[in-house]
Amino acid sequence: MRAAAAKLLRPRQFVRAASTATGPKKIAVLAGDGIGEEVMAEALKVLARTSELFPQVQLNYEHALIGGAAYDAHGVHFPDATRDVCAASDAILFGSIGGPVEEQHLPKWKDAEKNALLGMRQAFDLGVNVRPAKVYPALSHASPLRPDLISGGVDMVIIRELLGGIYFGKHTTDGDTAEDVCTYTAEQIKRPLQFAFEAAKSRRGKLTVVDKANVLDTSRLWRRVAIEMHKDHPEVELDFMYVDNAAMQLIKAPTYFDVICTENMFGDILSDAASVLPGSLGLMPSASLGSSVYMYEPSGGSAPDLQGKNVANPAAQILCASMMLRYSLDAPAAADAVSTSAFGDAVVAAIKA
Ligand code: IPM
Ligand code: MG
Repeated sequence: MRAAAAKLLRPRQFVRAASTATGPKKIAVLAGDGIGEEVMAEALKVLARTSELFPQVQLNYEHALIGGAAYDAHGVHFPDATRDVCAASDAILFGSIGGPVEEQHLPKWKDAEKNALLGMRQAFDLGVNVRPAKVYPALSHASPLRPDLISGGVDMVIIRELLGGIYFGKHTTDGDTAEDVCTYTAEQIKRPLQFAFEAAKSRRGKLTVVDKANVLDTSRLWRRVAIEMHKDHPEVELDFMYVDNAAMQLIKAPTYFDVICTENMFGDILSDAASVLPGSLGLMPSASLGSSVYMYEPSGGSAPDLQGKNVANPAAQILCASMMLRYSLDAPAAADAVSTSAFGDAVVAAIKA
């Protein structure tokens, strides 16, 4: 059960062979703001132990600034120096970005997340975002849903297209009129769908494409591409769901879902909805994959109110390290060793001691 769960997400063609063939791999460490530094420190601790146990996992870290921390030093949220460090790395381990709510108007924080995250996504062609959402049996009491709604086992992964749609269309404001253009090409749609079909095959074999095809042309294009691609993956059970219904079903019947694939903005919204199912954002890792270096980022945010109190849950950051071992460093055994269940066992052992 444990090993099966840990191995779920590994479509072969998305495992990126690290660029430096021999010798230590280069990891760009971007701790960022808020709790970023402290949870990152725990992930690096876990990776150090992983290197001791798995000699093929040898890592060199290069730390770089991002978000508010970068603004303080360089006056921008995503400095060229950081881009260069990432471009020269085998993987990017990312912490969090953003400042306290009451300071959002300050230049240090204004648009920090947008500038840094959208900048990184574009710079490294990160078109496929992988967000697993799982209710761990041992933590099921933390879920806000009634036990009967989750007792069948909630274990889904949301594959979000990350470089297209309304996020990257033309944005204009002309007096009292504003416009955000949503464009998709078949090419853009194929990449996340390819990952989603492969992911479904390594899981329960079920893919739900979420759209708004009763209204939007881009959604109709998503459906057409998905139906065409399905011919190459007949063993996957494919269905379509309107996004409004999907938002409802995520709460009403979360056990229904296995793999969800959807466009950029729907994925943004639905992954936040799914993230509350486990009961803590601190349990949600994510990976962003593309044609270049991959990036691993907890979904939880910078939580400045928790900073420096030694109370932030480092699980998501540690699980990001595990995803990095799997997708960027092709070290699945090491990734399994840093699995959620291994993490829980270690905490239990430490508490008992
Ligand atoms: C996310 C975030 C970002 C997004 C914001 C901070 C730009 O909400 O990664 O889900 O909307 O993509
Ligand atoms: Mg979001």
